[in-house]
Amino acid sequence: MNTDIFKKKIEYSFDKSAGNYDSRTLLQKEIMFVLLNFLYQEISITNKKKKNHLLDLGCGTGELSNILIKKLNFNKIHLLDLSSEMLNIAKKKINKDNVLFDRNDFDSFCQFNDYDIIVSNMALHWSANFIVFIERILNQMRKNTIFIFSIPDNKSFSFLKKVKLEELINKFPEKEIILKRISEEFDCKVYEKAFFEETFSLLDFFKNMKKIGANVSNRSINFRKLLELRKYCFKEPIKINYNINFFIIKKNE
Ligand SMILES: C[S@@+](CC[C@H](N)C(=O)[O-])C[C@H]1O[C@@H](n2cnc3c(N)ncnc32)[C@H](O)[C@@H]1O
Repeated sequence: MNTDIFKKKIEYSFDKSAGNYDSRTLLQKEIMFVLLNFLYQEISITNKKKKNHLLDLGCGTGELSNILIKKLNFNKIHLLDLSSEMLNIAKKKINKDNVLFDRNDFDSFCQFNDYDIIVSNMALHWSANFIVFIERILNQMRKNTIFIFSIPDNKSFSFLKKVKLEELINKFPEKEIILKRISEEFDCKVYEKAFFEETFSLLDFFKNMKKIGANVSNRSINFRKLLELRKYCFKEPIKINYNINFFIIKKNE
């Protein structure tokens, strides 16, 4: 798909779902708390006392930053997202002078050298070219900056693979391919953890994805496959797995 069209679709989809997003994303919040705990572990006492500059990529409604700024010291906070409606919700939650709400595309952002902490929860897999993007961050980030993010991988949604409907879900960046791009200049830890969402019907599962804006496909979808979803209703709920990778990257001194 043409990149501009892909971005427009993402923007439109998250704009439309912004009002529903917080009430419908328990799983994303569960993942966010795991990410936050990894970040707290990583930050040394000295860093905690220091006034930091934070960048939150694909910040959505600002949940993560809103928690972080109550816990750590920041002199500047930069919330970046493609969706102005998501940012509008973040603005209502975070009412501080030192926060920049930036409607921007992280794929074209070029100032990663300006931050002490770069965070992102469940957003970077929407990049139009993940590897180029991650290399740009690695090249630009300064020594001691902590870059921490969570993304799903291709072990996610195994039920859909079992019923041969994998083309309905996006392809995600693979951990091994990302790791190959991270040189010895960096200290990198990766944790993998499975999260589950229960559903009585695959159609409902996809409808819920649509309600939170996460239904934009990066693959070409056969309409007949979408219709097949109606076949999968269950008496007992089935568990849909999200296999999440947590990356914690620090540039060595
Ligand atoms: C699943 S939401 C996650 C939001 C938030 N980080 C959270 O933890 O709930 C993904 C977010 O990434 C944003 N996004 C997707 N592609 C983007 C891009 N290229 N540049 C900036 N933001 C983007 C979307 O607008 C959306 O708000």
